[in-house]
Amino acid sequence: MTAIVAVGAQWGDEGKGKISDWLAIHADVVVRFQGGNNAGHTLVVDGEKTVLHLIPCGVLQPGTVNLIGPGVVVDPRVLRDEIDQIEAKGALRDPSRLRVSGRAHVICDWHISLDKARDEARQEAAIGTTGRGIGPTYEDKVARRGIRMADLLDPESLRIAVDRIAREKNFELVELYRWKAIDPDVLYDELVALGRRLEPYVDHTGRILDEALCAGKHVLFEGAQGTFLDIDHGTYPYVTSSNCVAGAVCTGGGVGPTRIDGVLGITKAYTTRVGGGPFPTEDEGEGGRWLGERGNEFGATTGRKRRCGWLDTVVLREAAIVNGFTALAVNKLDILSGRSEIPVATAWKIDGKLTRDFPMTLGELARAEPVYESLPGWQEDLQGVRRYEDLPDAARRYVDRIEALVDVPVALISVGPGRDETIARQELFAR
Ligand code: IMP
Repeated sequence: MTAIVAVGAQWGDEGKGKISDWLAIHADVVVRFQGGNNAGHTLVVDGEKTVLHLIPCGVLQPGTVNLIGPGVVVDPRVLRDEIDQIEAKGALRDPSRLRVSGRAHVICDWHISLDKARDEARQEAAIGTTGRGIGPTYEDKVARRGIRMADLLDPESLRIAVDRIAREKNFELVELYRWKAIDPDVLYDELVALGRRLEPYVDHTGRILDEALCAGKHVLFEGAQGTFLDIDHGTYPYVTSSNCVAGAVCTGGGVGPTRIDGVLGITKAYTTRVGGGPFPTEDEGEGGRWLGERGNEFGATTGRKRRCGWLDTVVLREAAIVNGFTALAVNKLDILSGRSEIPVATAWKIDGKLTRDFPMTLGELARAEPVYESLPGWQEDLQGVRRYEDLPDAARRYVDRIEALVDVPVALISVGPGRDETIARQELFAR
């Protein structure tokens, strides 16, 4: 298999960083294709923790080329800081190992201010965005008035763009939201300086990707957020502003669908969600608290407490359809040790009707009551297990039941945050 897409099957935070990092060991090229620094990947390599928000996880693998595709929105300050951090670790000596598309749109101060001002103004209906300027930057992209990474390398046209956009943004910020205006001179100077710092990394990523695929290299497309945060397929409007499903690889990475060989759906062994919006299997009682504490469920980007609940196979089946999963990775199975029984949702009741299909509207979703099947739990600690056969019977039965209910094989099981704490049942990137 040459080109694999790894995407979240739930509402983000499925542990994509851990799985992508594990897959990146055998990847030549790792590509981010959507989202921005609203994502947060925590990687634990040899006990050392690195949190990345923008740079693909392959950067920690010597020799791997990492691409930030045109579908990503880039906060150039965050990119600079992550480059500094990785350079300081000695893991990025050669700039050709990190390439950023000149077509990727740039997150500016006004996007961040507008993101926060608008979500504040929504009051109880707040989406609970990460406040990183993601939505407003995608809006400007679609409105054909955004600034792209390549523009940072051209001070003259950048000046014109900054002045033009500042007028409009400051009007909205000050007149509509009573927020502070952004000084276009200060912003311009900063963007020019950032352009100079980042110039060695800006490139035509689509060509690099094409060459890698033609040469039969192993390419990993690393998704951010998750299927139900997707702007079209998620729980709109409680979603992010990009397409997070596997199909987004084509537009956001710059590759045709015929060149993708497999799609790995990543799920936790239970479910979490950050921010607002419906979440049928959320457990606001003892079970949810137990999952949150054992699973240390706090966001890597904002530090916010995640809402917790049980695994929902209605959600996973829908994700399997939308993404075309060829395999699943089940994360954090170790967290479930210690319960006598574990509920798994197999269907929903909406307005008295039983369904296994994900509904079309948010209203139906908000009224969905999960129908649970109770599976036997296990007491053993799983963190030291490396082979599927060595899992306790009940843990294996849990995994088998997921496979049967979602109708997708479970290729990987994660039993701890460390790179080696992984059970592989299938070689995804065989050399
Ligand atoms: P935004 O992406 O900052 O606009 O936030 C929109 C919604 O997506 C909010 O509910 C966020 O909490 C959620 N979100 C965005 N990125 C992530 C992520 O990486 N993990 C989990 N939730 C996320």
